[in-house]
Amino acid sequence: MDLNDAKTHELVTHRGFKLIHGTHDPDDVDQIYNLEIRDSDVFVVTYPKSGTIWMQQILLLLEAKGDLTTINHLNNHSNADLIPWIEVNGNRQMFITAPSPRLRVTHLQLHFMPSALSQKGKVIYVARNPKDVLVSYFYFHKLANMLETPKDFNDFFEKFIRGDVFGGSWFEHVKTWYSHKNDMDMLFITYEEMIKDLQSAVERISLFLGKELTDEQLANVVKHSTFNNMKKIPQANYEQVPGDLLSHHQGTFMRKGTVGDWKNHFTAAQNERFDKVFHREMENFPLAFNWDIMDIN
Ligand code: A3P
Repeated sequence: MDLNDAKTHELVTHRGFKLIHGTHDPDDVDQIYNLEIRDSDVFVVTYPKSGTIWMQQILLLLEAKGDLTTINHLNNHSNADLIPWIEVNGNRQMFITAPSPRLRVTHLQLHFMPSALSQKGKVIYVARNPKDVLVSYFYFHKLANMLETPKDFNDFFEKFIRGDVFGGSWFEHVKTWYSHKNDMDMLFITYEEMIKDLQSAVERISLFLGKELTDEQLANVVKHSTFNNMKKIPQANYEQVPGDLLSHHQGTFMRKGTVGDWKNHFTAAQNERFDKVFHREMENFPLAFNWDIMDIN
């Protein structure tokens, strides 16, 4: 595709991955690979809609020792301003000169990431069951103006299965990152584990990052990163993001925050089709996903 002809919401296929025209510049994304990495760098890696903003909130709170009032939210900075996407236009340059610790998020596939991550820095990969990811992504496509509004649920369902969305194939993303987890210092955690026991998840993340917080400080990290509390913080719910980027009348970013909402959306036929693809794609994947809130509590 000629980039000059692309519309803002059009996807650009670049080295086996889908980027968003206008949001990402393929040449710039290619330079991420050569970035120098510091020991204190942390990358949160997610397929879209898997809990990125949640992990941003937890990392910000761990840095702030649980004190919400010291997070720069007060200056109207959103979670994404404070822990930016490395792949979004202009952000790579900022990363080079940023003070430590450099906390970043990314939806990129492994082959774009700094090669030096095998020696230095840390990675937190958050995976979420793909049926809930699909539903969350469907609603996000309605909200986000840089993404094409889906024709209907079934049309989006097929696109997701084909990997014809920003982030590419969910199956490839999770499989690739997981299979390289021992090639770098990585914590692999699931959204469902975080839903099941946020306290334990926060303790694991804190330990992984080598943080030393008191029990009270850790309890505050947990308190300010629950769904209900985050929903009340405009900067953690992207409420202050301008209307040209998010159509706020279409819904809220913090939508349901649960496990199993796919059951309210998938038809029996869609579910059967999804299960078939899932079993084919994930046949040799060693971890099981939780599909229902009832399996968790
Ligand atoms: P839903 O649309 O299913 O509600 P991302 O930040 O990667 O785009 O992921 C967004 C999804 O994570 C949304 O899912 C959002 O509600 C959910 N989420 C964000 N913070 C959460 C929290 N504290 N607890 C549970 N879910 C959360």
